Amino acid sequence: MKVFVILPAAGLGTRMAAGGVSPAAPKQFLTLHGLPILIHSLRAFEAVSRVDTIYVAVRKNEIDRVKTQVAGHGVAAKVHVVEGGDTRQESVSNALAALPCTDDDIVLVHDAVRPLIDPVTIDRTIDSVAKHGAAIVALPAIDTIKQVERTADGAIITSTIPRELIVQAQTPQGFRCGLLKRAFAEAQADGFVGTDEASIVERSGVEVAVVMGSAKNLKITQPGDLELAEFYLKQS
Ligand code: C5P
Repeated sequence: MKVFVILPAAGLGTRMAAGGVSPAAPKQFLTLHGLPILIHSLRAFEAVSRVDTIYVAVRKNEIDRVKTQVAGHGVAAKVHVVEGGDTRQESVSNALAALPCTDDDIVLVHDAVRPLIDPVTIDRTIDSVAKHGAAIVALPAIDTIKQVERTADGAIITSTIPRELIVQAQTPQGFRCGLLKRAFAEAQADGFVGTDEASIVERSGVEVAVVMGSAKNLKITQPGDLELAEFYLKQS
């Protein structure tokens, strides 16, 4: 059984740009603690001995830059760079099409912009996928969660969702390769677009297990997140 990793890194970082950070530098290429965010993520997966190959999906015009970065930081041995797409789902789908995996192999998908993922959590996710077939890292909700209806006057609360029924999905999200490929094919046939891989697999009727995540595994999305990630790195 092999373990493949897909790092979607073809986002444009528009939410970061909206906050004043240069739109010329998508967030996965911003520097954190002296290294591009993407390289931090790659290193975490490279440190896990069970990981065989890592596929990074990037914009076509960034393929050469990323290949150079990957080679320059000594993480090239297990890494392939492929072209991403216009949505996260398309980027993952393109990488998935390039994977030489058998049905029983494991595929982990991880947001390139979660650079503080740790090898222990990656290992636990692999164990959980080996046991359940599908597992994602997630964090119990701390805030009280409200369902709302969007109106012209703003959001109006329609209900309160019991907090103990909620987890916040993070990544990695892992699946047996055959199961993931089937779920992606079904989603494409139905025109379904999900914001994570689990939502695509859930709609195929597959049960997805949860592995405990951490607040440290943050997704660098908005201005301020980079400073928080720097803070965590200085602590460790
Ligand atoms: O923007 P979002 O929060 O969905 O980004 C999650 C991850 O998906 C990021 O690492 C981003 O680079 C990636 N992504 C992608 N292709 C897209 C959009 C996002 O690979 N078209």
